[in-house]
Amino acid sequence: MVYSSSFCKYIQLLVIGIACLSATAFADPPYTLCPNSASYANNSLFQNNLDTLLHSLPNNASVSKFYNASSGNIPDGVYSLYMCLDYITNEECKICISDAVEDIMRLCSNIKAAVVWEENCQLRYSNQNFFGKLDITENIGKDNVQKISQPENFKSVVNKTLINLTKEAASNLSANMYATGEVQFENKPIYALVQCTRDLSANDCSRCLLKAIADVLGCCFTSIGARLLSRSCYLRYEFYSFYRVDHDPFSSSTDSEAKGGGRNIRMTVILTTASALAITLLSASTYFLMKKKRTQKRKNDIVSQLATIHNFGERGDLKFHHQKSHGRNEKKAEEFPCIDLVSLSMATDKFSESNKLGQGGFGPVYKIQSGVHNSAGAHVLI
Ligand SMILES: *[C@@H]1O[C@H](CO)[C@@H](O)[C@H](O)[C@H]1NC(C)=O
Ligand SMILES: *[C@@H]1O[C@H](CO)[C@@H](O)[C@H](O)[C@H]1NC(C)=O
Ligand SMILES: *[C@@H]1O[C@H](CO)[C@@H](O)[C@H](O)[C@H]1NC(C)=O
Ligand SMILES: *[C@@H]1O[C@H](CO)[C@@H](O)[C@H](O)[C@H]1NC(C)=O
Ligand SMILES: *[C@@H]1O[C@H](CO)[C@@H](O)[C@H](O)[C@H]1NC(C)=O
Ligand SMILES: *[C@@H]1O[C@H](CO)[C@@H](O)[C@H](O)[C@H]1NC(C)=O
Repeated sequence: MVYSSSFCKYIQLLVIGIACLSATAFADPPYTLCPNSASYANNSLFQNNLDTLLHSLPNNASVSKFYNASSGNIPDGVYSLYMCLDYITNEECKICISDAVEDIMRLCSNIKAAVVWEENCQLRYSNQNFFGKLDITENIGKDNVQKISQPENFKSVVNKTLINLTKEAASNLSANMYATGEVQFENKPIYALVQCTRDLSANDCSRCLLKAIADVLGCCFTSIGARLLSRSCYLRYEFYSFYRVDHDPFSSSTDSEAKGGGRNIRMTVILTTASALAITLLSASTYFLMKKKRTQKRKNDIVSQLATIHNFGERGDLKFHHQKSHGRNEKKAEEFPCIDLVSLSMATDKFSESNKLGQGGFGPVYKIQSGVHNSAGAHVLI
């Protein structure tokens, strides 16, 4: 309505282009481990057991964030286990496990043992019974394209933080072998998370995480954020709260509510605020654009807008890496109205990490910077 639809399309293409560029440097999940293990034939009994077992897991995920189950008997038996990160709701866990089942079957087809890691959950199956057995080989580190300025200091702070969290996760069994924490690094908070699969003993959880810490600091300590994917544990740290923090202004006051209905209230608040802001932004940009149009040809206008975007792309150092603009999520992104990227970029302070509130099902959530600084903040989903 504001910009012609071709201009809107142009911007959309550009956004997808930037997202694809950055995707080559930092690919989004799913991540898989499909080792060169034994393979199974199509229509075999093993495949039948695997299909049945994996497709039953989303049902369990709707009531529990961790579950292990098996189907069939040796030599065609299948063992499977999933873990959702503790900060998501059961509803989100169910969706995550459904995606994981689809992805593991597609990406590791005809392999008798495999693991997949999604944004918020992981799923593993094997023809061997691995329940309660620790395997810390073949860990996978995932770093961020952006580098940290003082890697040695950073490494030491991250190491201490993760070791503290490991103690917490492995000692407090009522916390589901999960722990998160925040520490300051050069006046910016680092958010860190560790979690083990609950079939492990406390001691094995600790061993799994200590190996994960050594591995992630080995591969990725120069990067501003990283994750470590292991068969029986997971860790991640970032300069933004990718998990829900306790003092989140949108989380409900009581624990039970925050785990269930709280999510819906939160989404509604965010969506309502986002819509109101989108309208304000669109009106404001219309006004300025119309004003500009009187003195400039539309073509020139587009060129200048694109120049801004190019600058932003360079200066922003590909901060799009967490945006899921490709694959399964691309369709979702297209369902949203076209909002001027330049306005959005300015409003979110060039999508700055400090304005990022977290990663929602629709992509990252940013706090909007308005003329008058409002600590409660307004929020926009992109
Ligand atoms: C099994 O079937 C799928 C398609 O249905 C095919 O892509 C795949 O190559 C087959 N695998 C084997 C081992 O025959
Ligand atoms: C898991 O799902 C299966 C099949 O839907 C069901 O039989 C089983 O009772 C569930 N287990 C739990 C703990 O929910
Ligand atoms: C899950 O694993 C434990 C061992 O860690 C085992 O005792 C239990 O029977 C398993 N559950 C299922 C449903 O297979
Ligand atoms: C992390 O800290 C522990 C204990 O202080 C130390 O043994 C280990 O070498 C440190 N790891 C790294 C990668 O710095
Ligand atoms: C780790 O825990 C120790 C003891 O509880 C505490 O003194 C220290 O500040 C913690 N370090 C970090 C980086 O959280
Ligand atoms: C253990 O975890 C529970 C649940 O998260 C928490 O309420 C409790 O304070 C923790 N206990 C200790 C000693 O950290």
